[in-house]
Amino acid sequence: MAFRKDFLWGGATAANQCEGGYNEGGRGLANVDVVPIGKDRFPIISGQMKMFDFDDEHFYPAKEAIDMYHRYKEDIALFGEMGFKTYRLSIAWTRIFPNGDEAEPNEEGLKFYEDLFKECHKYGIEPLVTITHFDCPMHLIKKYGAWRSRELVGFYENLCKVIFNRYKGLVKYWLTFNEINMILHAPFMGAGLYFEEDDNKEQVKYQAAHHELVASAIATKIAHEVDPENKVGCMLAAGSNYPYTPKPEDVWAGKQNDRENYFFIDVQSRGEYPAYALKEMERNGIEIKMEEGDKELLKAHTVDFISFSYYSSRVATVDPELLEQTQGNIFASVKNPYLEASEWGWQIDPLGLRITMNDLYDRYQKPLFIVENGLGAVDTPDENGYVEDDYRIEYLAAHLQAMKDAVELDGVDLWGYTTWGCIDLVSAGTGEMKKRYGFIYVDRDNEGNGTLKRTKKKSFDWYKKVIASNGEDLSN
Ligand code: BG6
Repeated sequence: MAFRKDFLWGGATAANQCEGGYNEGGRGLANVDVVPIGKDRFPIISGQMKMFDFDDEHFYPAKEAIDMYHRYKEDIALFGEMGFKTYRLSIAWTRIFPNGDEAEPNEEGLKFYEDLFKECHKYGIEPLVTITHFDCPMHLIKKYGAWRSRELVGFYENLCKVIFNRYKGLVKYWLTFNEINMILHAPFMGAGLYFEEDDNKEQVKYQAAHHELVASAIATKIAHEVDPENKVGCMLAAGSNYPYTPKPEDVWAGKQNDRENYFFIDVQSRGEYPAYALKEMERNGIEIKMEEGDKELLKAHTVDFISFSYYSSRVATVDPELLEQTQGNIFASVKNPYLEASEWGWQIDPLGLRITMNDLYDRYQKPLFIVENGLGAVDTPDENGYVEDDYRIEYLAAHLQAMKDAVELDGVDLWGYTTWGCIDLVSAGTGEMKKRYGFIYVDRDNEGNGTLKRTKKKSFDWYKKVIASNGEDLSN
């Protein structure tokens, strides 16, 4: 058998993309609430255009999302029916601390997640909790400039203390920051960073990243102190770079791109700033302000496992013409002529998953956890809401085969696999509902119309069978 007996099969979501109930239960406002669908989304999520509150001209899909805030019991029952061993979800910081800097947490928010975790355990589902999936309280953005301020470390620490103690015995798998490298590409959505005209953006981003890295080490420390059973992981938006040609300059460009991402995990897993990053920062005039004790903290409290999302490999080149054609996607990459792409232009590369797993395992020698993977596609339901999503099954089966090869043939230690958006939810990149990843169809469109009714897709039964066979039976 390829996979461990206790392999954690499941699915993943994020609070802001599925919960809705943005102003219920005493919840405060966050960056992820005020990112609208439409042409302004990218300028806003990248910190170029200011949007600190709702206005009348835009539609904000996260406000209601798929209303999981009120429907989580029904949804978790469906995950249980599929045989999930784990469910990856994130807590909304502003449900626990509406402003972020209060001394006392909001009991209603704490209770909401306590009930949700208990609901998971009813079905033998182990929650895997992302402490922050892109969200930052709006009050912390307005008052402190979000993660550019060192004070955020203390507020995050408070949040961690509260949730680790409250959910002791209910949650043992934690991720500190979702796709921590997103801060470089979508700094407002990823870390609440908005840039003023005279800002040195790179300086701001890397200083904020340092604060997150320190906060992540503190979280790891506290998690282990509160319960030695706790396992804490970092989380990378992964996907190894291929050189476009064997030209040494292209190979070097690929290595540079990989290092831009590895930088975060090098700190979180090896416990120190890597030499290449220090040199690069020095060359670019970036000075990281560290406090006494930071280096020791980073070194002493490294993560237990490496989690990552994988949607595609990436391609690197120094060819100016090819670079010019590159789309302004969140993680822009040159097109690989050997690969097909999804309807949103994301290239499909199952072998790239095996390559990425091997790269990460070789580098860190720690257990891996794939916490996001999947196909965002347009689904066309029949009159009963049923979707025959063979394309999704095909995509997932090919990736599962590659993952199996990495475990069985290469010896990678893999703890689990959670598909992204196991139930249809709002897209982080575009804000669309139309870009669906789920095994469960949700009746809602880009404009917010629909009954929110849940219906099983064809892939629902397929995934159920995959889990029941512990990944042995991938057939459609
Ligand atoms: C990852 C995020 O970037 O990819 C998720 O962690 C996101 O929040 C997922 O939804 C898929 O991206 P998109 O843009 O298709 O939603």
